[in-house]
Amino acid sequence: MLPDALPSRWYPIFSSAQLRRAPTVVERLGERLVLWRDAAGRAHAALDRCPHRGVSFKTATVNQAGELVCPYHGFTFSPKGPCAHAPVLGRDAKPPAMSLDIRNVTEAHGLIWAFTGAVEADTPPPPWFEGLGDDLRRCADIAEEWPVHHVQLTQSMLDIYHVGVLHRRTAPGSGQVITDFTMTTTEDEVHTEGRLGHEGAKGMPFVARLRLPGLVHLDVGFGLHVLVGVTPIDAKRSWVWARYEARLTPLPQLDGVIAWLGAKYDFTVLQHMEDLPLLKSIEPAVPEPGVDRLIAPDAGAAAYLRLYRRALSGRMEVAQ
Ligand code: FES
Ligand SMILES: [Fe+2]
Repeated sequence: MLPDALPSRWYPIFSSAQLRRAPTVVERLGERLVLWRDAAGRAHAALDRCPHRGVSFKTATVNQAGELVCPYHGFTFSPKGPCAHAPVLGRDAKPPAMSLDIRNVTEAHGLIWAFTGAVEADTPPPPWFEGLGDDLRRCADIAEEWPVHHVQLTQSMLDIYHVGVLHRRTAPGSGQVITDFTMTTTEDEVHTEGRLGHEGAKGMPFVARLRLPGLVHLDVGFGLHVLVGVTPIDAKRSWVWARYEARLTPLPQLDGVIAWLGAKYDFTVLQHMEDLPLLKSIEPAVPEPGVDRLIAPDAGAAAYLRLYRRALSGRMEVAQ
């Protein structure tokens, strides 16, 4: 596992709607993984390396039993891992001690999630913000790989007030001044809220909150909510998934169209053209405390960094 991913956490790794029965290969959490569905539609994941001779499962198939069939020598692997059949040995022979390197995945809220550790009976479900993002008719999803470290990307999601500066032309009218700002934390969560507006005016209320390892909810007013999940790919890249939800009209389908337009505009114009070049330029990716000269309105991003470091050092203590 990637050294700077948090231990014993659920990370979103793929969109449910895009995972079919046929294998899909993705890079997440420092590994190349193969994902597939069995005949009952259950999602499975394993390291993308055939244990026989190491080829990728990218062009593998899935048989009627939901087993993964390697394209090279046709060895078949059960979703639990063991090799169930090797054609070269004849019908009933099974090669001993040959198994996929299985990863724990579950499916919730339209996402496939991978657990960075051993799933136990008391392992909690993936993190979520209850009451949000579950009426998919009002939602639009976007998922992409970004060449940015996951800690920087997550921090940037909690940074509201850059909108009035960096995005002043593409999202005009948002103002640059934060007032009535509050920040609270628990062991796993950061909650910020306040108003963003012009000097002397009341400003628009906003909420930005985070749940470890990297799920963010933004309420930017206007009845538009954004959920963002950030999952590390490696030390330089992240997989970012965002669900835009509109609650503007009585018609869910109309809200869905508005959410889709909002998502497209935000990603193609604001995020790609304005945020990405700056985020890519940040060094170091995980600043030591005190390196960034943070100010009061950065309290949410700073609190996230503290929680992240604490959760990561828990793993280091266990490993020692
Ligand atoms: S490499 Fe997969 S079956 Fe031989
Ligand atoms: Fe931005």
